[in-house]
Amino acid sequence: MERTKVSKLLNETPGQEVLAKGWVRTKRGNKNVAFIALNDGSTINNIQIVADPAMFDEDVMKNITTGACISVKGELVASMGSGQAVEIQAKEIEVLGIADPNEYPLQKKGHSMEFLREIAHLRPRTNTFGAVLRIRHAMAFAIHKFFNDKGFVYLHTPLITGSDCEGAGAMFQVTTMDLNNIPKREDGSIDYDQDFFARPTSLTVSGQLEGELGAMALGEIYTFGPTFRAENSNTPRHLAEFWMIEPEMAFYEIKDNMDLAEEFIKYCVKYALDNCMDDIKFLNDMFDKELIERLENVINTEFVRLPYTEGVEILKASGVKFEYPVEWGIDLQSEHERYLVEQHFKKPVILTDYPKDIKAFYMKQNDDGKTVRAMDVLFPKIGEIIGGSQREESLEKLEARIKELNMDTKNLWWYIDTRRFGSAPHSGFGLGFERLLLFVTGMSNIRDVIPFPRTPKTAEF
Ligand code: 4AD
Ligand code: MG
Repeated sequence: MERTKVSKLLNETPGQEVLAKGWVRTKRGNKNVAFIALNDGSTINNIQIVADPAMFDEDVMKNITTGACISVKGELVASMGSGQAVEIQAKEIEVLGIADPNEYPLQKKGHSMEFLREIAHLRPRTNTFGAVLRIRHAMAFAIHKFFNDKGFVYLHTPLITGSDCEGAGAMFQVTTMDLNNIPKREDGSIDYDQDFFARPTSLTVSGQLEGELGAMALGEIYTFGPTFRAENSNTPRHLAEFWMIEPEMAFYEIKDNMDLAEEFIKYCVKYALDNCMDDIKFLNDMFDKELIERLENVINTEFVRLPYTEGVEILKASGVKFEYPVEWGIDLQSEHERYLVEQHFKKPVILTDYPKDIKAFYMKQNDDGKTVRAMDVLFPKIGEIIGGSQREESLEKLEARIKELNMDTKNLWWYIDTRRFGSAPHSGFGLGFERLLLFVTGMSNIRDVIPFPRTPKTAEF
């Protein structure tokens, strides 16, 4: 007999033989009847199994404990109890895997998120992480669908790279050299000729530079992959390994870029509301009573578009005493971003035209000589969710900026070549996948929206 998933069983008509498999969430009852709540991960909802203990081996009944994996054959019947339409009247039960109640860590409900992080190998079995991981999947699917429907090409950019896209120097080095015996040259420097790639390499912080090469041939591309940043930021919004979606479009000016970013985020949020309501409702009720309202608001409001300089004026006039004082030229902190979004405008804000000194070398320079055509999308509760820009397409200006920043052109000749051969106006942006998930799930720590978080001093699972 074929197994039916719980998500399907809950919508089947009673009066048929079924086979269910899954993990026991709870067992209650007495000598005469046992009620088992079974979950198989296909939905946040459990199916109730009703069993007459007299019909089963004593050992089998004893081993049906929270966390155990069981297989149940029986009849799907209309449920007498409230809370579910159907349940299974058990005829055969097999215990596939026991979970000793004295040792299984998820015995009770209501563990702290901190504790659950320490058992990342088991936390997917909780309602909360089941919901988050199903939503994570749905968002990944929605993202591919959004771009595929628009004719964008999914470009796979390398994870191992010889260049630092963001120029922040926060890269994890990749090497096969023996750290106890590093090959040196005569002058004492490291002899990278003897390393695997015969050059220094790192894990990428962004697929953008290669993405731009793709856009200059295929027109519109996007990347969707892991990125790595060795910045030592222990915050609820930073991971050392996170996933990023980076569309890159030929012939887009900054306004087209903003339009796409806004449409894209709204599409993802709407997709979640349309397709993940069971899970979102659970998270709304358990963690964040304003979650659904916030998601609906984002779909229905036009994002504010505002130059950085005006944003700074608003912050200075606010009278708020920020931890980091505001001055034109500073890199905005999340307290500033959240003030603009949550207090001042009460809606998402796209901030543009940042000072060139706090942004990356590749951004298109404005005529004022001070600012670049950058755009950051700022969200309630999150702060920056998207960073992007129009790119500098002029060979002359790009080379001048690279020189000004004392960057090594040796590693970037191939990138500069795109400005030499058939250069075109183009733009793109990067959405932090986990930041999107923070917003959509209402979780408050980024460690809780990725299965196995990588942060400073943690890489256990
Ligand atoms: O603003 P960032 O650094 O932009 C880029 O990397 C560009 N190359 C993107 C582009 O134009 N193609 O990063 C983009 C987004 C941020 O807005 C944020 O959402 C996310 O990536 N992000 C992080 N998410 C989690 N942990 C971190 N340490 C992150 N750093 C950036
Ligand atoms: Mg940024």
